[in-house]
Amino acid sequence: MVFVMSDRPFFFRCINEACHKEFDIGRKLYQCPSCSDLLDIIKPPPDLDPTQLKELFRQRAASKNPLDISAVWRYREFLPFEERDLGHVVTMGEGNNPVLETPRCAEYVGLNRLRVKHLGWNPTGSFKDYGMTTAVTQAKKLGSRVVACASTGNTSASMAAYCARAGLRAVVFIPEGQIAFGKLSQSLDYGALTLQLEGNFDVAMGLVRELSDETDLYLMNSINPFRLEGQQTVILELLEQLDWKVPDRIVVPGGNLGNCSSYGKILMDLKKMGFIDKVPRITIIQASGADPLYRTLVTSSAELVPVPDAWTLASAIKIGKPISWKKALRTLKFTDGWCDVVSEQEIADAKATLGLDGIGCEPASATTVAGLKKLMKLGQDDVTMDPDEDVIAILTGHQLKDPDYTVNYHLDNLHEHAIYENNLIEKSGKIKSTFANKPMEIGPDKEKIIRLLKL
Ligand code: F0G
Repeated sequence: MVFVMSDRPFFFRCINEACHKEFDIGRKLYQCPSCSDLLDIIKPPPDLDPTQLKELFRQRAASKNPLDISAVWRYREFLPFEERDLGHVVTMGEGNNPVLETPRCAEYVGLNRLRVKHLGWNPTGSFKDYGMTTAVTQAKKLGSRVVACASTGNTSASMAAYCARAGLRAVVFIPEGQIAFGKLSQSLDYGALTLQLEGNFDVAMGLVRELSDETDLYLMNSINPFRLEGQQTVILELLEQLDWKVPDRIVVPGGNLGNCSSYGKILMDLKKMGFIDKVPRITIIQASGADPLYRTLVTSSAELVPVPDAWTLASAIKIGKPISWKKALRTLKFTDGWCDVVSEQEIADAKATLGLDGIGCEPASATTVAGLKKLMKLGQDDVTMDPDEDVIAILTGHQLKDPDYTVNYHLDNLHEHAIYENNLIEKSGKIKSTFANKPMEIGPDKEKIIRLLKL
């Protein structure tokens, strides 16, 4: 029987309740060696009680210690690292992004109030930095020589940066011609070996998983539980920003489903510890052309219903076979959450509405606002939303990751469908630029400008 119980306080445990085998945290594992299911990291509850911990976190926020400046390591009592690991942490002061009011978006979706937490204001411009600081720290601790990931662009950007800081060799596998340029530029800049693969993200993911099983490559996708451990601190940071008042609902985009999975896990832990008395409903929004979780849910399938030719202009979430789907379903069950889908048109208009609130984001992030609008309108049985609900939308990536999308929208030149074949893009089905803000061409003519501006 494969059963290696750790003598350390943390250990891996298979999420499959019929298996639940436990493994040493010091092993390079991503899946259960016994039944191949996903792994959780199990941690003993912190020694301090919730009141003491809240006070400790409050004090650390004023400290100049790099570990306290990071909104991941500030909550280190919730991370699977020991005191002696803390001298080797790879951090860039990640987190510390604000919760912002979005009055125009609130009106647009039909809520009385809507706030967003913008994870795109991180060192590499996406939420990935929360989990990369912990995963790269673990890679160093394991003595890994080469680390790798498949990516739609943000994981690779973040991994490349943190590996450069740590002095680790980084290899990224990206679907050729299918990631936004801002993201590609990052992995090049940070010195990662960048392999542009023929095929989509799911092909790249399958390949890098095989390579990491067969060689000593250390895998940095969110199947690696150390990624999700770091990402959990988004919830701690958010709750602290809200004075520990738990919102009714947290809305998050769904791609490879790591984010929502990590939120579910920390909420389970916090509830068990008595840290929170209520659980926010996690609502996952997918693009309608890349909606495997939604399909799985609505068909009540026991297995994932993959989308072989997943497609969306929100390239970050163009994923048809998400790795963490079982953990995502667990999150939905525990939080009484829901998953829904939005069209390309809905994503584009929601993104433009966020823009009118002065908040830029990449298209994948705007699924949250688009999803809220849809749910408010539908008033579905499963998700009856009240205009007074206290809702937080999670924005996952910075606007400048994918400026082409934004400029094309405002130039009224965004097309709904693209078929990638030998790198040729075929366009069909135009997206209506409902809120277009076209630039105007004008000569250096002062009088004309005064007339135009009615000055
Ligand atoms: N938003 C952005 C900006 C992303 O980059 C991703 C995923 C998601 C949402 C979806 O998050 O996978 O946790 O459900 N990007 C990955 C990547 C897949 O390779 O950069 P998820």
